Amino acid sequence: MKIIKDIKEMQNLSKNLKKDKSIGFVATMGFLHEGHLSLAHQAKEQNDVVVMSIFVNPLQFAEGEDFNTYPRDRKRDEKLAEEAGVDILFFPSPEEMYPENFQTHINVEKLTQVLEGASRPLFFKGVTTVVCKLFNAVKPIRAYFGEKDAQQLIVIKKMVEDLNMDVEIVPMPIIREYDELAMSSRNKYLNPEERKSAVSLYKALKKAKQMIDDKIFDTKIIIQNMEKIISSYPFTHIDYISINHISNLKSLKYIEIGKTLISLAVFVGKTRLIDNIWI
Ligand code: PAF
Repeated sequence: MKIIKDIKEMQNLSKNLKKDKSIGFVATMGFLHEGHLSLAHQAKEQNDVVVMSIFVNPLQFAEGEDFNTYPRDRKRDEKLAEEAGVDILFFPSPEEMYPENFQTHINVEKLTQVLEGASRPLFFKGVTTVVCKLFNAVKPIRAYFGEKDAQQLIVIKKMVEDLNMDVEIVPMPIIREYDELAMSSRNKYLNPEERKSAVSLYKALKKAKQMIDDKIFDTKIIIQNMEKIISSYPFTHIDYISINHISNLKSLKYIEIGKTLISLAVFVGKTRLIDNIWI
């Protein structure tokens, strides 16, 4: 596995590779888990070359968020990436990505006003800006993003569509722990007691699914039931539970089968976790 830190070097290599090979790309912030590795495996199956980036992107963290404490373990990541079949690990520095006088940002305007965007106003501008820069460095034909960050996936797809970026966005299913907690690098922050309460997110989502199977389509009633489940676990504090249309993210009064995203963000202790299901 080749490790590259320099954007120009990455661009030159990709330019050459692209002449006769397909490049699949997995963007990460490191501290890799099975979720990231499933993206790498899929990329390996569908492309000649797999590039993974590891970059904890300062632009997508607000003041007081966990940029400084975000888990980092470079040696472990290198080993896991290599085992997952990654051919090139792109590891740029913040100075390389955002030199002094950097002043261009990408902003998907409407889809970023709700859900994660409402709670974290700078987040998506940081994500779309870095993903665009990473695409320009890596030049992939396909890029793989997990459905756990459902809104991120929708926003990135919109950026690609609006800006005519020549890359296929491949969505990948959520990978869960043994007790169905969605995998996330931030799960590491949970102490053993909080870890037990973290299962409440998916329990609430499963309750919603069961209610819909029982033909209850009123989203207000579904959300009330989800709130009840989460609040019954200690250390939990709901940021939002929301039921939205999958393509425009408008809030829904009634479930529309095939077109509904149920998503939530919950603090468990100080750790903010997200999860979702697509109905
Ligand atoms: O999902 C993530 O890990 C990040 O938001 C991403 C897409 C790598 C951009 O920094």
